Amino acid sequence: MPFPAARRILRRYWAPLRRWLGWLTGGSWKRVLAAVALMGALAGVGGLTLVSLGLVPISASSGHWTATGWVLHYAMRRAVSTQSMGITVPPLDDPALVLKGAGHYHTGCLACHGGPGQERSLIVQQMTPEPPFLPPRIERWEPQELFWIVKNGVKFTAMPAWLAQKRDDEVWAVVAFLQAMPSMSPERYTQLALGGRADQPAKPVTPDHLRPLQDPLGPVLANCNRCHAEDGGGRGEGAFPRLAGQSEAYLLGALQAYASGKRHSGIMQPIAAGLEPDVLEALAQHYAELPPISRTDAPEPLPDSLARGLSLAERGVRERGIPSCVHCHGPKEGPRNPMYPNIAGQYAAYLKLQLELFTTGKRGGTEYAHIMHSAAQQLTPEQMQALADYYASLPAEETAALGKPALTLNRREPIRTEPSAQDSSPPQQR
Ligand code: HEC
Ligand code: HEC
Ligand code: HEC
Repeated sequence: MPFPAARRILRRYWAPLRRWLGWLTGGSWKRVLAAVALMGALAGVGGLTLVSLGLVPISASSGHWTATGWVLHYAMRRAVSTQSMGITVPPLDDPALVLKGAGHYHTGCLACHGGPGQERSLIVQQMTPEPPFLPPRIERWEPQELFWIVKNGVKFTAMPAWLAQKRDDEVWAVVAFLQAMPSMSPERYTQLALGGRADQPAKPVTPDHLRPLQDPLGPVLANCNRCHAEDGGGRGEGAFPRLAGQSEAYLLGALQAYASGKRHSGIMQPIAAGLEPDVLEALAQHYAELPPISRTDAPEPLPDSLARGLSLAERGVRERGIPSCVHCHGPKEGPRNPMYPNIAGQYAAYLKLQLELFTTGKRGGTEYAHIMHSAAQQLTPEQMQALADYYASLPAEETAALGKPALTLNRREPIRTEPSAQDSSPPQQR
């Protein structure tokens, strides 16, 4: 007999339930049930008629009735609270996270939500529901709830989901910034979101906005420089990669990969996708021509970690299929393929993050990115840290200078960003 337990339970509870319904409705419980069903059906037909006749009030100008607004907000609060249960909050006190979050907040959130010393656009204030001025609202939410909202967005409002759903790390950066925002002065906000180096006071942004008159890249570059800095050196802290002195072909490949969605980042994708192909080329050329920058401010990693990094980079680990990194990324004699990025002198935090993304399949990239998926796959977290520390400790010039001979690009020829059969064969292990 199927589901004997279910039958037993039914038999046991059906008779008392019938008795109770009979008592409640004076014996006519079947008729009451039928009436309820009929009313439900009538309400459904009525609703459908209203919708079909086009009488549903959808105008944003009339706002919500108080009751509708209350119910919708209540539903949202409950849904966010329940559905964010079980999300583990990582440490959020890293200044680099706040810096990265601030940079994106300015691109993607400010117009709708305002910020310290910055009002919301008048246009978004005509939305229903109106995006709230955010600073005073943050304290109502737990960090995992903010994460849920920023990652998933909110249906039936204009609150968008995170563009790169794979990049939880970026969403956490925004959460770290949101949590710092309520107590942030307008000056601090300007410094974080628009300023020069995080450790230097912000420059006024207006002169940059005057540049477009002579220089068509002016406003675009001013925007890039908010995060990557005028000298292309990132902004300290490792929130943003260094671009100065990077190979032009790689920079262009990376920008095209963001623009086409092959490399996932909720921060860089919308920026690159909004630019014309020739602007991307000009930007890649601009940053490639800036002199490479060596770190003088980097904290010295432990000598142990450096030695391990050096040995891994030079020899790889044969038995685990980890190739020699030096083979492609230097430092080594002779020219290198310009599609292999310069990673010497890059921020350790950025390098480690990219390696983690490669191992978890979250880092796309150019047509060559598959090389790194297999190269990084077997790396342990300690090995990634050691390799990141080692490469970050190298002077940037060294590999840049060695890489340069391969970069004799003919300006009239488009830069080749597709691999040849020879390039994509796995490297020999040493
Ligand atoms: C196009 C406008 C728009 C953009 C862009 C936008 N939001 Fe929203 N956001 C909204 C709307 C609308 C709501 C819902 C308001 C409501 O429920 O009444 C909302 C709600 C929120 C809430 C919940 C606020 C509360 O207390 O109810 C948070 C937090 C939030 N957004 C953060 C962000 C962040 C961070 C970004 C940028 C990554 C962002 N939003 C981008 C429109 C926007
Ligand atoms: C809001 C901050 C922000 C702005 C503005 C910004 N970037 Fe980025 N950029 C980032 C972050 C964060 C990353 C790392 C993203 C990742 O993890 O893939 C990045 C990555 C890059 C990379 C890849 C570097 C590498 O080593 O692989 C390039 C190239 C780049 N940006 C160029 C630009 C250009 C050109 C502009 C202006 C059009 C620009 N960025 C504007 C934050 C920003
Ligand atoms: C066969 C060549 C090759 C080998 C070997 C190799 N890489 Fe790469 N690496 C690449 C290429 C190509 C990219 C660019 C991928 C893309 O974005 O399309 C890259 C990208 C990277 C990046 C991201 C840089 C950035 O700016 O975003 C890091 C970090 C990196 N490699 C580290 C390593 C380490 C560590 C090793 C050794 C374990 C290694 N690579 C071995 C070719 C190689």
